[in-house]
Amino acid sequence: MRIVVIYQSKTGYSKEYAEWIAEALKAEVRDLKSAKKMDFSTCDWVIFGGGVYASRINGLKRLRELLGGQEGGRLSIFAVGASPPGQRNTGQLIEKNLKDWPRPVEFYYFQGGFDPEKLSPGMKLVIAGVKRVLGRKLKKHPETLTEDDRLFLEFFNSVHHHSDPGQIKDLVDFVETHIGQKDTP
Ligand SMILES: Cc1cc2nc3c(=O)[nH]c(=O)nc-3n(C[C@H](O)[C@H](O)[C@H](O)COP(=O)(O)O)c2cc1C
Repeated sequence: MRIVVIYQSKTGYSKEYAEWIAEALKAEVRDLKSAKKMDFSTCDWVIFGGGVYASRINGLKRLRELLGGQEGGRLSIFAVGASPPGQRNTGQLIEKNLKDWPRPVEFYYFQGGFDPEKLSPGMKLVIAGVKRVLGRKLKKHPETLTEDDRLFLEFFNSVHHHSDPGQIKDLVDFVETHIGQKDTP
């Protein structure tokens, strides 16, 4: 039984979840870059996870290219974002990322966190720019700030850490229950 957990992570949260899942399932774990030459037909189960950036799951497009037409085993996908888990959030992520996915897939959302210190210099610059523009707007024309602008400011002004291995339970249980069954979920 070959189970592989693949992740794409900018600040370490998806990597941490991928490692917890791999440990629980005694699976291989690797980052998306190193999965470039993988033969997915040898995998019974692929689990992929990536961070959420502007509602997009980081690395999903690349994973889709890598999987291409390769016949493999089953596929589970998890997204890691800073927003709290909930039906609305999950529904939006599926709608934006998996609507036209070519094969059945199990989807999970885990809350990670946000730590500006871990961002790349380029990403820090982007966020500083957005904060500057919104900050000016807040000072001069607070009435023009939308609800999303306010959430954005609040979000990027604080450090949040919500990673918790308890969140992987449903995914791990599902894989353990279905290991060895080749039918689609
Ligand atoms: C520019 C930017 C955009 C983001 N957009 C979202 C978002 O739309 N929804 C969300 O829940 N989290 C969002 N986040 C937070 C990340 O998803 C969160 O920090 C996640 O834990 C990162 O995972 P990673 O370190 O594995 O990449 C955003 C973070 C940044 C820096």
